[in-house]
Amino acid sequence: MRLSGKHIVLGVTGSIAAYKAAYLLRGLVKEGAEVQVVMTPSAKEFITSVTMSALSGKPVISEFFSTNDGSWNSHVDLGQWADLMLIAPATAATLGKMAHAVCDNMLITTYLSAKCPVMIAPAMDLDMFRHPANLRNIELLRADGNLIIEPGEGALASGLHGKGRMEEPDVIVEEVIKFFGQKKKLLNKHFLVTAGPTYEKIDPVRFIGNYSSGKMGYAIAHELVRAGAKVTLVSGPVEIKNTNPQIKVIAVESAHEMHEACIGLFPQTDGAVMCAAVADFTPVQVAGSKIKREKDDLMIQLKPTRDIASDLGQMKSDQQLLVGFALETDDELSNAFAKLTRKNLDLIVLNSLNDHGAGFGVDTNKITLIGKNNNPAFFELKSKAEVAADIVAAMVSEMERKGKLQE
Ligand code: CTP
Repeated sequence: MRLSGKHIVLGVTGSIAAYKAAYLLRGLVKEGAEVQVVMTPSAKEFITSVTMSALSGKPVISEFFSTNDGSWNSHVDLGQWADLMLIAPATAATLGKMAHAVCDNMLITTYLSAKCPVMIAPAMDLDMFRHPANLRNIELLRADGNLIIEPGEGALASGLHGKGRMEEPDVIVEEVIKFFGQKKKLLNKHFLVTAGPTYEKIDPVRFIGNYSSGKMGYAIAHELVRAGAKVTLVSGPVEIKNTNPQIKVIAVESAHEMHEACIGLFPQTDGAVMCAAVADFTPVQVAGSKIKREKDDLMIQLKPTRDIASDLGQMKSDQQLLVGFALETDDELSNAFAKLTRKNLDLIVLNSLNDHGAGFGVDTNKITLIGKNNNPAFFELKSKAEVAADIVAAMVSEMERKGKLQE
């Protein structure tokens, strides 16, 4: 019984896959979990509360008030009781309500009151799943620190075939067990992460920038927090809003500001992950007023910026771990290893622009991890959240190898 003593709130929403929630519930209970089922009103159109209460051994909650005696179902108590909230299946409507705090049922109020981690297993038709509005909501939920159990590909209730099918109940049970089994290996550790682009001012209205979205750096920050660490994220200008209280964001704009922030913070940390796409050059002079179109050509003289990763590499103590990124187009492996040596890094994450689905702006990445032994580990194309998990796992092994983590 791998889940004995665990309190789980199982949220069920109105999807054809709701019938699978019964198998899921049975799987959780079999493993010893105490489960409180919360159903949305439309979930009850797909599966009865009698089935779910019989399997969980507890009355199902779905209304704010009990119709029998008018007693109040406290979503706050439920949110505090739970060690984990699992929402499976989660419809597009529920994902939208969770992402935007639309509290019109017991499940969403419980979600907003929950102090525990939340896992979400979406289920919907393939076109609904890949609609930009739905994908945007999933990204918002991920950024809020929720764990998404990606739907699988296969035959859908609509008769179509594609991605949107809720992951199988036995796989979800294993994910839950894995989640509880994970030791918070980076507890009491503090990491610095850099993310996003830098903007180098030309005049009051123009800058030199790049296409970095910051997604990879923010995903790493979340993953470090999940492993128990505290994170200070020095972020260039990005669209992402941080909502995780364990992540302190220091917003900067230029390479110079990022350098200053990192140099000040690094000595108090156990290490840093340099994920930002820092400008290598910046204008020698910033025009005080808008540059006018007076001539046919314009020369802007640039000077190199400070290499933040390199400077941290110089400052690094034996107790600290320094991870860098390398975006390469040619001789990728040897260039990345040379960068690791030059900047005194412990680990370098290589992205090749030759790999489809890797690099700026996209939600996926394909990486190769290279350590000081120059023995590259190649990874498949994955979501940036999964890539972040691989990077943090490599950091943990490196710290264990060096004896920097207690057993
Ligand atoms: N980096 C940094 N400060 C800079 C430039 C880069 O901290 N001024 C960091 C990046 O965050 C990344 C690593 O150094 O972790 C490598 O960045 P990359 O742009 O690939 O390498 P460069 O050193 O700029 O070399 P080149 O552009 O010649 O490949």
